[in-house]
Amino acid sequence: MARRKLFVTTALPYANGPFHIGHIMEYIQADIWVRFQRMQGHEVHFMGADDSHGAPIMLAAEKAGKTPEQFIAEIEKSRGPYLAGFHISHDNWHTTHSKENSDLSQDIYRRLKAAGLVYTKPIEQFFDPVKGMFLADRYIKGECPNCGAKDQYGDACENCSTAYAATELRNPYSALSGARPVLKSSQHHFFKLSDPKCKAFIRDWLETPGRLQPQVVNKAKEWLEGSGDKALADWDISRDPPYFGIRIPDIGEEKYLYVWLDAPIGYLASLKNYCAKRKLDFERLLAECEQVHFIGKEIIYFHTLFWPAMLEFAGAPYKVPDHVYVHGFITVSGDKMSKSRGTGIDPLRYLKLGMNPEWLRYYIAAKLNANVEDIDFNADDFATRVNSDLVGKYINIASRCAIFLTRKFKGEIKLAPGDALLPKFQEASGEIGKAYEAREFGRALREVMALADHANQFVDQQKPWELSKDPANDQRLQHVCSVAINLFRLLTIYLKPVLPALTAQAEAFLRIAPLTWADSETLLESGHTIQPYKHLMTRVEEGQLDKLFEQGAEQPVTEQITIDDFSKLDLRVARIVRAEQVDGADKLVKLTLDVGSGTRTVFAGIKSDYTPDKLEGRLAVLVANLAPRKMKFGLSEGMVLAASGDDGPGIFLVSPDAGARPGMRVK
Ligand code: 2FM
Ligand code: ZN
Repeated sequence: MARRKLFVTTALPYANGPFHIGHIMEYIQADIWVRFQRMQGHEVHFMGADDSHGAPIMLAAEKAGKTPEQFIAEIEKSRGPYLAGFHISHDNWHTTHSKENSDLSQDIYRRLKAAGLVYTKPIEQFFDPVKGMFLADRYIKGECPNCGAKDQYGDACENCSTAYAATELRNPYSALSGARPVLKSSQHHFFKLSDPKCKAFIRDWLETPGRLQPQVVNKAKEWLEGSGDKALADWDISRDPPYFGIRIPDIGEEKYLYVWLDAPIGYLASLKNYCAKRKLDFERLLAECEQVHFIGKEIIYFHTLFWPAMLEFAGAPYKVPDHVYVHGFITVSGDKMSKSRGTGIDPLRYLKLGMNPEWLRYYIAAKLNANVEDIDFNADDFATRVNSDLVGKYINIASRCAIFLTRKFKGEIKLAPGDALLPKFQEASGEIGKAYEAREFGRALREVMALADHANQFVDQQKPWELSKDPANDQRLQHVCSVAINLFRLLTIYLKPVLPALTAQAEAFLRIAPLTWADSETLLESGHTIQPYKHLMTRVEEGQLDKLFEQGAEQPVTEQITIDDFSKLDLRVARIVRAEQVDGADKLVKLTLDVGSGTRTVFAGIKSDYTPDKLEGRLAVLVANLAPRKMKFGLSEGMVLAASGDDGPGIFLVSPDAGARPGMRVK
């Protein structure tokens, strides 16, 4: 087979939170496919990056009292333990907040404009006069125009499910400041997706055989061919300041590219950054590679309409994706795992508990197929599957037979001719390989485990432990164990994309070079010696799963108190009217608080995370009946509440939602 060149990506996670199990599932899926391709001898460039721009990240940074740059840098730093922990083998991890991405995005914007596919028109939108910014629908609340329910978001009512425009809300207010938004017009830039040549191209791209999963083609075509109020609309690609993003070039005023325009370009930015590090020619590599994106089903729209159209009409060196492979969600015991509500399994906690990352890789792989289907993590099923397949079937073959080779034959393999099982195992490489290639990992592993069953039956029938009792059987014993170890080696090849660490241990035990797919054509021949067997994998213990799902076990809660104890605390909403540096103090900030009935002075130990200008105007929660404390710098009349952990990532001031007034009791 010709050597393929592959540029493979996983969706870029927003740089505003840690990874959850949904991210890890996608990375495991892509990583298995990538490792399979590498084993085939293909050249793979596997790219990841953080999706670092947009209003939510800008606001999250502000809330944390950090610059967006600081904020995203900290998130980026936190990625390593997850990726290494689950053996995810990206060749590069970059960020969309980078020179490469800014250059590429501006270049693509200019080319689209030159192609006549960008135009501007004024748009009237809600504007928060206090924050001085335009508000996306999710930052506007008000009463539902249909049922009158209070505090509904700007796009749809959670009470009666009516969809509406934010401008239809009654008594709208900004979820950021509480202020009443005003309508304001500004010039927006649009990508002309509705252009006939654009639509014709997308249709053609979608219909290219073998490019996409059929479910994905159908979904995308529904959007593409919609009519009336479902007709494909042009895409608003600009945002007004303040915004954390990439400047729109060549226009007099300050405007930014919408985050969803620069996000997928981040795939290319990561590749460009990697090429610079490896001294590779970016444009040449891009031209030579198949471009393959792994994504979740919630972002099909962006990846099958906008993204290919942007690339097509930007022109060479850009080229359209060859494949977009879409997966479903992962639920945990039937609970939907959503982006915002990162419940379920905490991947870092899984690792901290010492649970084997390859158990999860195996379990997820066993459940995955090439369809856009959700998969469920079920704790009992997980333990059963891992223990019975990996430990009970695969590992068992080696652990039962190696010992005789070591004890009696100095670890030496000796095969008598004419064995029928070995060729059968070798021939299976074709079907198993096809399943991996097609992302039918569940099918691949079912075939591998059916072979493992055969191998164990063979050992059961040959009974090496019986043969070993009489030296007259030595020849037979050595042959039987040599066959079994060879079967184990072939299974190791077939499991290697899923279990990279375990198979590395198995390679050391077998004393062989890293296995490739083509190694299934060969055997460990007579004369080869293996190492004594050391245990390769432990079983999943029920106790570990209990701990994984225990609520808040990591943060032991202190002694219980009664409601009377609690009501002794007088917690009040306070507005920080002034915040000042304290000369000579390295931790303290001096706060002047409006508590409704007057002002208070409090010294708060939050200097490491908050500069005074980030504090003024904010609401906080004050412990109002704490005995005043005389400090070196003055009298502190209470305390403001803030959250912090033992090992970072910082201090987080507690604030009530917008709308609360100074003096209100918190209870
Ligand atoms: O939905 C998300 O999490 C986005 N951050 C995915 C972006 S994928 C690509 F376009 F960058
Ligand atoms: Zn309603």
